[in-house]
Amino acid sequence: VFQNVAQAPEDPILGVTVAFNKDPSPLKLNLGVGAYRTEEGKPLVLNVVRRAEQLLVNDLYRKKEYLPITGLSDFNKLSAKLILGSESPAILENRLATAQCLSGTGSLRVGAEFLTKHYHQRTIYIPVPTWGNHPKIFMMAGLSVKTYRYYDPTTHGLNFKGLLEDLSAAPNGAIVLLHACAHNPTGVDPTQDQWEHIRQLIRSKNLLPFFDSAYQGFASGSLDTDAQSVRMFVADGGDCLVAQSYAKNMGLYGERVGALTIVCKTTDVARKVESQMKLVIRPMYSNPPIHGASIVTTILKDRNMFYEWKLELKAMADRIISMRRQLYDAVSARGTPGTWNHIIKQIGMFTFTGLNSKQVSFMTSEYHIYLTSDGRISMAGLSSDKVPHLADAIHAAVTS
Ligand code: LMR
Repeated sequence: VFQNVAQAPEDPILGVTVAFNKDPSPLKLNLGVGAYRTEEGKPLVLNVVRRAEQLLVNDLYRKKEYLPITGLSDFNKLSAKLILGSESPAILENRLATAQCLSGTGSLRVGAEFLTKHYHQRTIYIPVPTWGNHPKIFMMAGLSVKTYRYYDPTTHGLNFKGLLEDLSAAPNGAIVLLHACAHNPTGVDPTQDQWEHIRQLIRSKNLLPFFDSAYQGFASGSLDTDAQSVRMFVADGGDCLVAQSYAKNMGLYGERVGALTIVCKTTDVARKVESQMKLVIRPMYSNPPIHGASIVTTILKDRNMFYEWKLELKAMADRIISMRRQLYDAVSARGTPGTWNHIIKQIGMFTFTGLNSKQVSFMTSEYHIYLTSDGRISMAGLSSDKVPHLADAIHAAVTS
């Protein structure tokens, strides 16, 4: 009965890892997926996560029970506090609904399903470019996806004028996807002033902001700095949605831990919204897994562990920043044609190099360096000893 099923292509990001795993070359380097690696090129389990897991071992009984549909309640409170800030008016006035979801993707999907059912506007505007999974998540949930200009390839920076024009032309009430910080794939974020302009425009047209916060603490090294865009929108009292992920900032990729928070105008509305979130989640996956959320909760609620986490997070962010400098220096030393200062200007996990898909294929076939075909490099996958090899590959790709 399935003989007419067509072969689907590999995922543009996760498929890079599939190809990387098949390559027998000792030179191979995976800069595709955004996953942190140490200077030794190894995945990192944070010490604070190991400590939390040790504590959880003594609590095995509770660990295997079903969670409520919206997950661990302490996890939800602490996650909202982390992204919105402890003094957030939405928290103090108790007008938010949070559900523990399956990392960033699951949180976005639950949010999108909720909007399809309970929001009058079915159109969502996403930036160009954006994370490759975004359009698929929203389309699958039944939203109609439109785009707004974001990245300017000539400056390797923000197309602020284009962004404002496109959002001004959006129909009243449309949903707008915003990357809270460390825009994926470009590493280009609006300045504080630009965020303020965007906020005013969004509020004046009653657009509905939907934040994707996948890198809190990873961009600048500070949890508060990386949450400023979201907090600015919540401070004005308007509605918004926030999808949070702990994949990168706690290194909990495979644990699938995240949260969806819907900020409403009143407590009464928030409670009703929460009740409907449950109706979205229950037939989808019933309730979320317990282990990863227990790790996060253990860390967030203990002062010392929270402090230890911040130090480890800062160390990861700093290593990425130092990779930027080293790659920039290496490319400059080779006199590679073109401007490369965007390598140090862009922030977060990724550098959007400007290399085209032909150049990317060349780097993969000749140098065994794996990256997404849009020229995005995961700086978190790079280490000092691999920088010369990468710079050689970029130089050869650009000059050949
Ligand atoms: C990425 O953009 O590489 C990450 O967010 C991983 C993923 O799921 O695509």
